[in-house]
Amino acid sequence: MNSKELKAREITDVFSFQHIEDSVDFMHSYGTLMSYYKCAIMEIETKFNVLNVEFSLRYDRNPINSIKTRLKKPMSLKEKLEKKNLPLNLETVEKNINDVAGVRVVCSFEKDVYMLADALLKQDDIKLVSMKDYIANPKPNGYRSLHLIVEVPIFLANEKRIMKVEIQLRTIAMHSWASLEHQLRYKKDFDFNEYVASELLECASLSENLDKKMDNLRKLLQIDDDFE
Ligand code: GTP
Ligand code: MG
Repeated sequence: MNSKELKAREITDVFSFQHIEDSVDFMHSYGTLMSYYKCAIMEIETKFNVLNVEFSLRYDRNPINSIKTRLKKPMSLKEKLEKKNLPLNLETVEKNINDVAGVRVVCSFEKDVYMLADALLKQDDIKLVSMKDYIANPKPNGYRSLHLIVEVPIFLANEKRIMKVEIQLRTIAMHSWASLEHQLRYKKDFDFNEYVASELLECASLSENLDKKMDNLRKLLQIDDDFE
């Protein structure tokens, strides 16, 4: 076999018909599953937008400051499956990974976080899978937010699928702390020593104070006082 033939042979092996067929099939299933998660994100985002519109009509202010959504990237998905010692297949993803679809809702006041969570969970197509209240019980590093994992149906032409979505609700102050802490934590050459950790904890407590003071002002000005 001359070198030209050899090259052709290797290429044929790597790109064997079966290999390509399998990859194409897998990528198709992967893309389909991800598109279902995208639909679930759209459903949840719309629900929050509707609540925001209703509330702003009634009380003339927006409980939602911003909404950000994200779909977990293939590499993070792979890393998470490996960390959990799970097989790398799509069935496992759907069953075991709760944060493929993520929706982050940044709220004006702490009260809005709970009002929006309650209003969402009251909807009869939403099922609560789990809730972590890091506002009532902040993480040891100071992180605060309300986390919900919910199931939401998406309606396709011939079927209804139940998808999981991770929702993080937080105030602007909680969000600013979490964003900056995240940036610092992922800085490659950043020395995350005890001093830095204690400073971050101090910042978390300042941000908690800010939320409390803002809430007192809201009460003082009797803004949406009747809304409970
Ligand atoms: P994963 O962290 O996703 O594996 O799941 P878990 O069940 O341990 O997560 P948890 O509900 O505690 O947190 C999930 C998400 O919340 C994370 O992916 C972050 O987006 C956010 N989060 C949790 N803890 C922190 C924190 O200390 N700092 C920041 N900036 N974000 C956090
Ligand atoms: Mg996560």
